[in-house]
Amino acid sequence: MLEQISDVGRDAKRGGYSRHGYDKPELELRHWFVEQAVRRGLTVETDRNGNLWAWWGERGDDALVTGSHLDSVPGGGAFDGPLGVTSALEAVDLLRAKGFEPARPFAITVFAEEEGGRFGVACLGSRLLTGAIAPEKALALKDPDGVTLAEAMKAAGYDPALVGRDDRALERIGQFVELHVEQGRGLTVPVGVASSILAHGRWRFTFAGEGNHAGATLVEDRRDPMLPAAQLVLAARRAARGGGRATVGRLVPNPGGTNVIASTVDVWLDARDSDDERTRAMVAEIAEAARQAAEEEGCELRMTEESYGDTVYFDSGLRDDIAGALGGVPALPTGAGHDAGILAAHVPTAMLFVRNPTGVSHAPEEFAEQADVDEGVKALAATIEHLGS
Ligand code: GLV
Ligand code: MN
Ligand code: MN
Ligand code: MN
Repeated sequence: MLEQISDVGRDAKRGGYSRHGYDKPELELRHWFVEQAVRRGLTVETDRNGNLWAWWGERGDDALVTGSHLDSVPGGGAFDGPLGVTSALEAVDLLRAKGFEPARPFAITVFAEEEGGRFGVACLGSRLLTGAIAPEKALALKDPDGVTLAEAMKAAGYDPALVGRDDRALERIGQFVELHVEQGRGLTVPVGVASSILAHGRWRFTFAGEGNHAGATLVEDRRDPMLPAAQLVLAARRAARGGGRATVGRLVPNPGGTNVIASTVDVWLDARDSDDERTRAMVAEIAEAARQAAEEEGCELRMTEESYGDTVYFDSGLRDDIAGALGGVPALPTGAGHDAGILAAHVPTAMLFVRNPTGVSHAPEEFAEQADVDEGVKALAATIEHLGS
């Protein structure tokens, strides 16, 4: 099934895939998903926040729900997201072939803009559904071309006026299980379950100096925002100690000319650690270094928290139940964020991981062996059978 969509959203410039919330490739993938679901006799609906639901049988309460997302990071891999969706469809086929019908409502979901690759906030669909982000804040988010989420949803045929916490949709979920490719080298057998997700968030730093000529301006006359931006990058590496992770993966100088001293530089920091206190302390250390560096260069600094979530501990009862039903597969923590992490604050939630032999993710080299993918589908089917009987 991943091969069926392997041409959609290929990024010739970056390599891999660029599929972002409500852009052309992501909408094409949504359309493909709906076709696949309808072909299987599932009933598809879109909730108020742009998330897709495909129901096997009657829609109803205490539903067992599984799914993931179809969007990617810029230049991402083929598995992060789509694997959880294709595995869910394949699991339905497998269960049908053996004559299984769920005894409780069952749905496959596709969440919108999980990576935040277009509008900057990850897990936008599940955050809106659960009320973890205010609708006004979400709808005003802009993509790099200045298009707001509200405009993008409207252009895609969704009504932005409906966006916001959806108690009805949330109440229907009895349990949520997301299958995902593992994103490090933490799994040495084909399938495992998740124990926790690191606390993590995104912060934006805007350094403002004075745009000027690269040749005509003496260095002592400059207020170059690239200098504190560079210091922030170095401070992030220094501050990430003892398991903490701090990353600058996006830095945008404005106007961005080789012979132009930038007038402003935007720097996005992704920071993660085992708990709230450690993560906040790491970010505070980086922010203080950025503040000092900005002051030394005569630049102004504005810092905004774009999103944040505390450590997620998945429901241990559900996790152990699934791990046991799968013959005692290992449980492992992850440094990656997921819609499952957002839903876990509201409903019993679990994750299945499929081994990643390269340990690479959010890059074109992200990989899982076909044999492990098959094991993942079987494990998801067994989980649905176990929880859905
Ligand atoms: C999502 O995959 C994230 O961890 O940023
Ligand atoms: Mn991801
Ligand atoms: Mn993902
Ligand atoms: Mn000139």
